[in-house]
Amino acid sequence: MGFKNKTVLITGASSGIGREAAIEFAKQGANLILVARRKEKMEKLKEQLEKSHIKIRTCQCDVSDKSQVRKMSEDVLKEFGHIDILVNNAGFAIYGSVSELTIEDIEAQMATNYFGMIYCTKNFLPSMLEQNSGHIVNVASVAASFGLPGIASYCASKFAMLGFSEGLKHELSGTGVGVTVVSPIMVRTDFFDHPSFEKMPKYSPTSLSPKTVAKAILKAANSPRLEIIVPSVVRGAVWAKHTFPYLINPILGSAFKKQLDSKK
Ligand SMILES: NC(=O)c1ccc[n+]([C@@H]2O[C@H](COP(=O)([O-])OP(=O)(O)OC[C@H]3O[C@@H](n4cnc5c(N)ncnc54)[C@H](OP(=O)(O)O)[C@@H]3O)[C@@H](O)[C@H]2O)c1
Repeated sequence: MGFKNKTVLITGASSGIGREAAIEFAKQGANLILVARRKEKMEKLKEQLEKSHIKIRTCQCDVSDKSQVRKMSEDVLKEFGHIDILVNNAGFAIYGSVSELTIEDIEAQMATNYFGMIYCTKNFLPSMLEQNSGHIVNVASVAASFGLPGIASYCASKFAMLGFSEGLKHELSGTGVGVTVVSPIMVRTDFFDHPSFEKMPKYSPTSLSPKTVAKAILKAANSPRLEIIVPSVVRGAVWAKHTFPYLINPILGSAFKKQLDSKK
């Protein structure tokens, strides 16, 4: 499927991966609905993309607030009639041990990363089912496959996203509506600007550009697969973890624990 004249809604479109995904979809002629909290950032992007002669709408919305998502989706469906692709990308992490993080820190990550995806899915899925077509792309992380010290609650939100997506994909079999998860390793975005990452090295030499992940999102929107791991070679690490957990988990756990301890 090409994306010309398709309607694509992207959450977390004001920055990083979501912003790059918007640029890539615009290049293909898709109409866009950009969703995030920072209106001015989305307006700048809209201005930049308007040269592509596509229809663009920005929606200021906190996806962790179900009433805001309901209002946003009602407005979008009134104006566009339907959407073809939903990219649930909004998300963030707070770095720190479970002992250091407050219950509110843990709830906030789940509220945006997991429930934000649920609210958007619940509000747009009925119209996709009605038209017997559509694709939901959920941006998780390799943290959906590895429980790591320092980001345990972030990992939980991404494990939840992957599990939900797998179940939903089975439920939607034969309906014409697809679900695919995109799980990247570290990406060079503002994600690590959260103050909790202050003492952490910002990026590893292997970290990805947001454009690489954006391209995987476009591939996912046409894919019958459940999960696309970026880069694909990391699928080997996920396989090794599940196949030899007693070998792999202690190695990964102690490396990340060392980093967490060095932050103190
Ligand atoms: N960077 C990485 O290393 C990495 C690796 C794997 C997966 N990911 C995942 O990729 C996704 C995008 O992250 P990124 O790296 O592009 O980080 P980013 O540059 O910080 O972008 C995060 C986006 O999410 C939006 N957002 C956050 N909370 C929101 C809320 N409550 N309501 C609406 N929008 C919200 C932000 O917009 P506003 O602040 O304007 O609302 C922003 O547009 C996240 O789900 C993240 O977990 C990132």
